[in-house]
Amino acid sequence: MNIFSGKSCNRNLWSLTFDRSEGLQVWRMKKEDKEERFPLYDQVKHFEDARTYVKCQNQAMKALGFTEHGLAHVGIVEERSRYILETLGDDDHTVDLALTAAYLHDIGNIVNRSEHSQSGALMAFQLLNDLNVPAADIAQIICAIGNHDEGNGVPVSRISAALIIADKSDVRRSRVQQENESQFDIHDRVNFSATDSEIKINKEHSGIKLKLHIDTRYGEIGEYFEIFMDRMLLCKRAANFLGLTFHLIINETSLM
Ligand SMILES: [Fe+2]
Ligand SMILES: [Fe+2]
Repeated sequence: MNIFSGKSCNRNLWSLTFDRSEGLQVWRMKKEDKEERFPLYDQVKHFEDARTYVKCQNQAMKALGFTEHGLAHVGIVEERSRYILETLGDDDHTVDLALTAAYLHDIGNIVNRSEHSQSGALMAFQLLNDLNVPAADIAQIICAIGNHDEGNGVPVSRISAALIIADKSDVRRSRVQQENESQFDIHDRVNFSATDSEIKINKEHSGIKLKLHIDTRYGEIGEYFEIFMDRMLLCKRAANFLGLTFHLIINETSLM
């Protein structure tokens, strides 16, 4: 699975590692890059309380039968948010705030899945305020977190638009937490069927593609739309906010 398509990024800043929990080769930011260029993100990632909430919310998701929302999901959302904003020329500080928002975006699931974007934004406020982060930066982060979900989210800033696309594009087999195939629900089937996913911004910076490969032995393309139509429409709005057109391509067929 090619989960990172930041071909225009400087690969010297990334290292290719094997993620055992995911069974994937993934691009990870090198340590010195994170610390120097993205100080807030680095601080929050090393804040034990924040890590605890990220991990615990996924335990709650698993108990409720939801797909994976833990560190693997967060890592992909971070990398894709960064790819989008760096490719479009946003500065390091904006990317730092986007990475921090991506890391914290699902912590509200520990309160309840319902309205988790709002509860997560309030939790993030508390965490960041405790770290004495300036209010102007907290404002951007909680705004993005509070608007990332298709239930009531709206792309209201570049960070929130990047977070929406990065989050909604994470569809993959390894997100399925249900071990018994016979117990799969439609979300499990669709995620299990997704064997490849990639986002790519074109050279002209006029469009962004979400390319998926669906193994139709496990899930039908119609089922993908049944559960993801609202998410894809939100991605389209987010892309438009960034001055991009949104294209969805499944199994080499253009569907949006
Ligand atoms: Fe979420
Ligand atoms: Fe998420």
